[in-house]
Amino acid sequence: MGCFIKFSSPAILFMFLSLLLIPTSAHVQVNEGGYISAVISKKGLDFFKNYLINQATSSIIPLELPDIEKSKKIPLIGKVHMALSNIIIYSVGIDSSYVETGDTDLLLAVSGATADCGMNWEYSYGSWLLPTISDSGAATVLVEGLEVGLTVSLKEQGGIVKVILVDCGSHVRDISIKVDGGASWLYQALFEAFEGKIKSAVESAVTKKISELITKLDSIFQSLPKQIPVSDIASMNTSFVRSPVLSDSSVEVEINGLFTASSGTSMLNYYHKGFESSASCSSPAKMIGIQLNENVFSSGALVYFNANRLHWIIDDIPEKSVLNTSGWRHIIPQLYTQYPNDGMNLYISVTSPPKIHVSEHDIGGTIDLDMTINVLDSSEVIPVACISLVINTSCFPEIKGDNLAGVIRLNDFKASLTWSRIGNLNMHIFQSMMSTILKTGFLPYINAHLRRGFPLPLPSGFTLENAEIFCTNSWVVVCSDLAALSLTK
Ligand SMILES: *[C@@H]1O[C@H](CO)[C@@H](O)[C@H](O)[C@H]1NC(C)=O
Ligand SMILES: *[C@@H]1O[C@H](CO)[C@@H](O)[C@H](O)[C@H]1NC(C)=O
Ligand SMILES: *[C@@H]1O[C@H](CO)[C@@H](O)[C@H](O)[C@H]1NC(C)=O
Repeated sequence: MGCFIKFSSPAILFMFLSLLLIPTSAHVQVNEGGYISAVISKKGLDFFKNYLINQATSSIIPLELPDIEKSKKIPLIGKVHMALSNIIIYSVGIDSSYVETGDTDLLLAVSGATADCGMNWEYSYGSWLLPTISDSGAATVLVEGLEVGLTVSLKEQGGIVKVILVDCGSHVRDISIKVDGGASWLYQALFEAFEGKIKSAVESAVTKKISELITKLDSIFQSLPKQIPVSDIASMNTSFVRSPVLSDSSVEVEINGLFTASSGTSMLNYYHKGFESSASCSSPAKMIGIQLNENVFSSGALVYFNANRLHWIIDDIPEKSVLNTSGWRHIIPQLYTQYPNDGMNLYISVTSPPKIHVSEHDIGGTIDLDMTINVLDSSEVIPVACISLVINTSCFPEIKGDNLAGVIRLNDFKASLTWSRIGNLNMHIFQSMMSTILKTGFLPYINAHLRRGFPLPLPSGFTLENAEIFCTNSWVVVCSDLAALSLTK
């Protein structure tokens, strides 16, 4: 096969490409505000290009071309009727391919490709004087210097990206025919009669197949969900907010990215702080950079808050003495006097939507809580005091598989007494007890969920590889390579 591979001259390729680069008018893009954006780098585009070419070649092959026939005058023989049938391209070899970003379109070119075809030939000739002479056999055709170029535009329409084939062309430089059997004149005759026709048959078959493939790709895009469920109550709005932006060998896509309640409409209304994130995944180069605005996390917290899910009963804690009035004997003597040696539990509820801010170090969260202290007196739950807390937490995000997860830690908190049936409580004396409760009783509940995280909106069929994560002002940035799932499994 090695001898089949030839390099096409770059001049031909660029001439070819320039034919495809049709000018498109600039249009104004209104940015409605996306809270998750993804930049696909040159490396990422090459990855997707190779993936698409692999998919395309394996879905194209075998490609059957229409039969061709022709009559031709052959010296010394006369008028011969010739026909080619069962013309099938059964393999394609791709030497090199390119993907480029234009102003508004993506350009993909394959150059110096080869294709092997098999076919049957037959001819017949004769006249009223002579009996008809006919023969048939097989031939193989090697197509060389196959250039394919296509321009695709990506346009957001109603939250979905449409893949539009703007232009597609293919060109065959050379073919050579190897005839099995037949008369000595046949090779030359077949070549002369059919060279142009075989070339154009290959060109139009490839072009037709590509436009079918792009239609298929578009329907895959059309079927992408506008929201993906994250849990029983929350979904992520994955609507595209604008057309992909092409620049400098990269493509940036932006989705809404906010969490919404799975049932009913959302009431989220965030102020978009502008999209200039200084973050980039340039060193070392990764295929994709996903940026999540802090509002993504705030919206998630808000959905859970609105769904009334942010409350917990703490009735198990490593420090057992906290859940027995005897453990409070020295801190609140009155509690022990009224309910000696009784069991206790703590009811913690979040009282306002958590405020989340991403800084250069971590994801900071300020959470308002009410903690009700309950005594369990002979199967009766008796609330004895309520303390309100403002806790300051730090979350360190991490990538778990294709999920964005994290662990939160307590930085500090402020406590104040809301009401009490056991006398005035000195909040100062409470500090270390509270800290133990928050760290070992409360945060583990939250971290049990955060450790699993939520799925990053990735194109289906792909998984993250060698992902890195960091925080910058207002944004969490994930830089990663991608792998196709079907290939890694
Ligand atoms: C999802 O995001 C799109 C684009 O920002 C917006 O138009 C749409 O209303 C959102 N859907 C919900 C359910 O919030
Ligand atoms: C509370 O602690 C005391 C002293 O250790 C113990 O006798 C009592 O059984 C405990 N109460 C409960 C409900 O565990
Ligand atoms: C939370 O704690 C961190 C670290 O102690 C501090 O830098 C930050 O300013 C605090 N945030 C709030 C809102 O108090």
